Amino acid sequence: MRTRPLKVALLGCGVVGSEVARIMTTHADDLTARIGAPVELAGVAVRRPSKVREGIDPSLVTTDATALVKRGDIDVVVEVIGGIEPARALITTAFEHGASVVSANKALIAQDGAALHAAAVEHGRDLYYEAAVAGAIPLIRPLRESLAGDKVNRVLGIVNGTTNFILDAMDTTGAGYQEALDEATALGYAEADPTADVEGFDAAAKAAILAGIAFHTRVRLDDVYREGMTEVTAADFASAKRMGCTIKLLAICERAADGGSVTARVHPAMIPLSHPLASVREAYNAVFVEAEAAGQLMFYGPGAGGSPTASAVLGDLVAVCRNKLAESTGPGDSAYTQLPVGSMGEVVTRYHISLDVADKPGVLAQVATVFAEHGVSIDTVRQTGKDGEASLVVVTHRAPDAALTGTVDALRSLDTVRGVASIMRVEGE
Ligand code: NDP
Ligand code: HSE
Repeated sequence: MRTRPLKVALLGCGVVGSEVARIMTTHADDLTARIGAPVELAGVAVRRPSKVREGIDPSLVTTDATALVKRGDIDVVVEVIGGIEPARALITTAFEHGASVVSANKALIAQDGAALHAAAVEHGRDLYYEAAVAGAIPLIRPLRESLAGDKVNRVLGIVNGTTNFILDAMDTTGAGYQEALDEATALGYAEADPTADVEGFDAAAKAAILAGIAFHTRVRLDDVYREGMTEVTAADFASAKRMGCTIKLLAICERAADGGSVTARVHPAMIPLSHPLASVREAYNAVFVEAEAAGQLMFYGPGAGGSPTASAVLGDLVAVCRNKLAESTGPGDSAYTQLPVGSMGEVVTRYHISLDVADKPGVLAQVATVFAEHGVSIDTVRQTGKDGEASLVVVTHRAPDAALTGTVDALRSLDTVRGVASIMRVEGE
């Protein structure tokens, strides 16, 4: 056992960072035994130095994060500031000054993962980010290591705790959107700017990371089709209930059937109540991975929050420290296949479309003709009349998304269609 401690610089001491520091202190002996050397918190970089931070030695606190990572004696930098800058510059500087890096920053990894991995390799250091996707759930390492001998074809799941918390509250308690978002923010689940959560940017970043690792290819944030959940209404939930479904914000990464391309998308979708994802409550996440030899695997657990996320950060810290003592590095980037990323129009899915129409002879036939003209087959139709108008709910069979979008555009131009009340994809059947 080495007695000289490995030194850790903690960048950020908010929801996640404060829990990382707490666990490093309370579990110090176990961490020492597991790593084979003590780990010492050598400095904590924050924005507001005067803020009282329970359990943190004030002499360790600094606002000069750059000076901390440049000290030269730091073995591991834990970046839990978030955002692009200064996190990116600090991580690059950390590599240049001999430190490995553990980060929870999905926005940065999704945007600049390739360059950061290259910098880690150039300096012979590790870059680990298990906490960046799905909080406490081990997902990056299982994909990168345990499934390295298999061929992953699909990754589908709930990867944002805040939006799942809001959708679950809207569905089960009838809570309003803003009320549920405020609660998720107070519980530490939401990003510094919750727009990242509710507009699907956070889930899209996670989808880009997952697709890249699962399919050994480069998937950029811009490659991910994204729709947020701000337009989901109580009426959508009522409609979903009538179909025996609920609504979840899903991230779906797929390899095309011919293996020649991949797609990645994030959007709200109706899923049957019988589907395991339907029972994922509050800020929990769940991800299905479908691999050729393994079959279907499900990963489930807390997807956000200080303590669960710190668990994933600490796991990485232990792994990186072990690598350091072994004078080696762990597996890095593996984007060797360079598969093209397909557009949303190529994705095959089903639609649930709710229309307000005139209640007179021939309208149903007109609507059905539009579906037929676009090659979209109708699965079910339900009509409810009200004072000369009617509400028409159409659920389609599977069709390319481009054909479904074309259908909806054409429906909007019919005189007898007063409005398209909602469009939602249906998944998981
Ligand atoms: P917080 O906003 O709670 O904490 C951010 C911390 O960074 C604060 O301590 C802040 O200082 C510090 N900070 C901000 N700017 C600077 C700067 N320029 N220099 C030094 N320190 C700075 O964020 P979270 O802990 O929630 O999130 C951190 C990261 O973890 C993000 O990348 C997030 O996406 C990721 N993550 C978060 C999860 C969660 O559930 N919260 C789950 C999974 C990942 P001060 O305290 O003085 O304000
Ligand atoms: N804001 C993120 C979420 C944190 O709600 O899932 C975890 O990545």
